[in-house]
Amino acid sequence: MNISGKTQIYGVIGDPVVNTLSPSMHNAAFKELDMDCVYLAFDVNTAGLEAAIRGMRGLTVRGLNVTMPHKSAVIPFLDEVEETSQLLQSINTIKNENGKLRGLSTDGAGAHWALEKNGVSLSGKRLLLLGGGGAAKAIALALARDVAEIVVLNRTAGKLDPVAETISRKFRKKVTVGSLSPLEIQKNLGHTDILVNATSVGMKPNQAECPVKPEWLKSKLTVMDIVYSPLETKLLRDAKAAGAKVISGLEMLVHQGAASFEIWTGKPAPVNAMRQAALKQLSGGKNH
Ligand code: ATR
Repeated sequence: MNISGKTQIYGVIGDPVVNTLSPSMHNAAFKELDMDCVYLAFDVNTAGLEAAIRGMRGLTVRGLNVTMPHKSAVIPFLDEVEETSQLLQSINTIKNENGKLRGLSTDGAGAHWALEKNGVSLSGKRLLLLGGGGAAKAIALALARDVAEIVVLNRTAGKLDPVAETISRKFRKKVTVGSLSPLEIQKNLGHTDILVNATSVGMKPNQAECPVKPEWLKSKLTVMDIVYSPLETKLLRDAKAAGAKVISGLEMLVHQGAASFEIWTGKPAPVNAMRQAALKQLSGGKNH
């Protein structure tokens, strides 16, 4: 990597950021496209968040990803926040447009692209979404325009209600909210085309856990998990064994990164290079 007097700076802020895959992905993308840019990880605690954003302006950092725990807290320090992110009260991407800081979320686009680029058509499909956190909300909003119907099941009641209300008002789609009980999951899977797990169930070190029983899965399903560690969750393993089409959490991660890259640079993201870099880091290899 060559650093020059014109090298443009990008990065991620979060606490902690030590395990982030974003520097691997974005630096691989810059290398692939031979761009004079670098992407760094900045450990920023809550007390330092405002100063970090002032620093972004002062140093003309071109773009930042924002991760836990700052996705909502950073919003007051920005100049403009896109409509969906305002609704979600969450952003993961900041673009520095000649000193004006614009906040966006690419989590939803990441899920949409992950399905679409893996050959899943959304039109007319019935989506069963598990979870009610930030990721679940972003996915529900991003897929609502295209799918025919959404059922969202979550452990804690009420979390999805405002988003469900927006979806039915804005997109005129049927949205049903229910509890994440075995009975509800089994009942709804009977008429589901696409199942997305947006809970953290199955994530290391609890990789033996799965919200869905293997016998409820069938070959006509598409199953996507947002968990990418392990790469193949128990849900995806069981779905594959049932003959279903599976899409790993890595796809959503890579595509949300690709969406940020395109927002910042205006260039098509080299998705394969980004995926390979993420895979290499996840499998314990050195990146560059
Ligand atoms: P993210 O931004 O990635 O969505 P989050 O906001 O912490 O992260 O949400 C995690 C999701 O996983 C939530 O829907 C959470 O359920 P609650 O809304 O009830 O907290 C869900 N989740 C985490 N652990 C779970 C478990 N053991 N069983 C069921 N759901 C779980």
